[in-house]
Formats: sequence, C-alpha cells, structure tokens
Amino acid sequence: MVNIKSQRELDLMRQSGRLVAKVLMNLTKLAVPGTKLSELDQAAEELTLSFGAKPSFKGYIGYRHSLCASVNEQVVHGIPTERILKEGDIIGLDFGLSFQGFHGDSAVTVAVGKVSAEAKEIMQVTKQSLYAGIDAARAGNTIKDIALAIESVVKPHRFGIVKEFVGHGIGQKLHEDPQVPNYAAGASNLKLKPGMTIAIEPMVNRGTHKVRVLADRWTAVTEDGQLSAHYEHSIAITDGEPEILTAWENLQDDTEGQALINQLNERGKYGQRGPNPA
Ligand code: MF3
Ligand code: CO
Repeated sequence: MVNIKSQRELDLMRQSGRLVAKVLMNLTKLAVPGTKLSELDQAAEELTLSFGAKPSFKGYIGYRHSLCASVNEQVVHGIPTERILKEGDIIGLDFGLSFQGFHGDSAVTVAVGKVSAEAKEIMQVTKQSLYAGIDAARAGNTIKDIALAIESVVKPHRFGIVKEFVGHGIGQKLHEDPQVPNYAAGASNLKLKPGMTIAIEPMVNRGTHKVRVLADRWTAVTEDGQLSAHYEHSIAITDGEPEILTAWENLQDDTEGQALINQLNERGKYGQRGPNPA
C-alpha cells in the first residue's frame, strides 16, 4: 500500500530531511585522508542525537551502525570499520534518521583528496542520473518513468546499473511501498501522486552491474572490483516540481552543525584536516 502524506506529515518529512542533509554535509567535511570509517559513524550518531533524532539504520534488520560507508568497489551497505581513508578513495556515505516519527534517507559519494578521472566520472554520471530520476518524479508519471530517466543518463556511458538494491517509499517507516528500481525492466507502471514520498537511489558501477556480498554479510561489492557510486535523496511528489526533502541548498546557515564539527575536530578524534576539495 502506498501512503499519501498529509500536509502535517509532509512538514515533518521536511524537518527530518533537513536534519539528514545536515549530517551528510558535515560528514563530507570529515571524509579526508586519515579519517577512520568508524569516526564518521560516530560523528553521524553524535550529530543525530544532538538534534533529538534517532539513527534509522542502527538496529534495522540487525545492522549495528548509524552510517553505511562504502569505499571504492563497495557498492552499498559498507560497514564503518577501523579502515582509514586515503587520498584517492571515493566513499559512499548513506545515512538515515527519524525525527518525530518520520524518516529521511540520503546518500552521497565523496572524493577523498584528489581522485582519478575514472572516479570523478562515475560520481558525476551517478549524481546526474539521480537528478534525472528526481526530475521525472512528477504527478502523472510512473515509477518506470523514474527508472527510464536514470537509464537515459547511464546507458550512453555503458556503466552498470545495480539491480539487486532499489529505492523505496519512505515515511513513518524507512522502507515503504513502492519499490523504486533504477532500471526500467524492473519498474512498475504505478502512477505517482502528490503526497507520495520516495527515496530515489541509483547505484552505478563502472564495469559489470553484478554485485556480491562479502563475508560480513552486509558489504555489497562490484563483482569485477571496479569502482561504484551511489547517490540518494528523499523526495516528495507535488502538484508541480518534485520537492527534495534532503537537499543541502537550505543549509548555508548551518551554524549548529558547524559548531559540532568544530568541537569534534578540537577533540582531535579525527584524521588530519584540510580543506575539502570540491
Ligand atoms: N540506506 C539504505 C536504503 O536506502 C538502507 C541501509 S540498510 C541498513 O535503503 F540496514 F543499513 F539500514
Ligand atoms: Co534508501
């Protein structure tokens, strides 16, 4: 069953989405050479709790962390271990929280220092495919239109679109109906209606679309070991333009988040800090 959110519910979704954006924006500043993945997880959790929110992933079907951190050939569900980030890595940061009973979920892939042209390309194409998918998320269109839009960006590059994991409805639960696949053959003709809230999350591999799961039973990696990228936003279908609930654009005045990051830095818990390259 696909929920239609009321204005009140949408307002709460906006609040949780904004907090997700704050956490992710601040985590990207910490994703520099020398930072441990576990430190990113800890920062995500501290920020979340400081907002009076709850991490959505912790405890979800047995997952033990607040953040998924997927490095290089890791596609999604990477575990934030004691691994240390190094120059040239790319890292997918996937994070969700609930605030006053409503979830937000978003992911971004970040360059750690200077990265290869191949890395930049897979990140750029995947991000572009997310925004194409979002642009297609309009009342009257279907779930398949979102997938078609994502495919239309990825296909010319002959990159692999991951099929095993899909986007999803989101609201009082992290995962609600409908499923939102990133490839048209897997997508339904369900019509989008104002008040639906969904998470769109393309995962794109430079090589084969095929993935396998490591012995830790969580981390999905590309079967051929090539790079993968992942971007995700929670959005609302409206009467007009799609509304990106987890957008960063309204965060310029994020003084609280910055203050917390400064505190974390001062405590010296994290790796060496430099400016985060664009
Ligand atoms: N972020 C994932 C999603 O979008 C969920 C992570 S799975 C979890 O569906 F178990 F880690 F929560
Ligand atoms: Co998601």
